[in-house]
Amino acid sequence: MPAFQIGSVADVPEGTGKTFTVDGHAIAVFRADGDFYALDDMCSHAEASLGAGEVDSDELCVECPLHGSLFDLRTGRPRTLPAFEPVNTYKVWAEGDTLYVEYSA
Ligand code: FES
Repeated sequence: MPAFQIGSVADVPEGTGKTFTVDGHAIAVFRADGDFYALDDMCSHAEASLGAGEVDSDELCVECPLHGSLFDLRTGRPRTLPAFEPVNTYKVWAEGDTLYVEYSA
């Protein structure tokens, strides 16, 4: 799967998320408890940006800013309603100061 250089490590401070456009697709990258995670930016329930959600570094989840479903950062699965379908996860990693994500349309 192709790897895309999306930005720098400093773009995603600990405990936050940020949305990147990768080959025309919105992917939200999060940093929680020192690790990076990447999910589809679009919530599986309605039109909301998970990258704008609040990150819980202890529970490794993000809260959808619209209706509050909690999505697991590792699996993309919602832990709470109203969302019930998972979002896709992507491999994301840092090399030096640069962030990469694996994505294929
Ligand atoms: S849009 Fe995310 S829970 Fe409704």
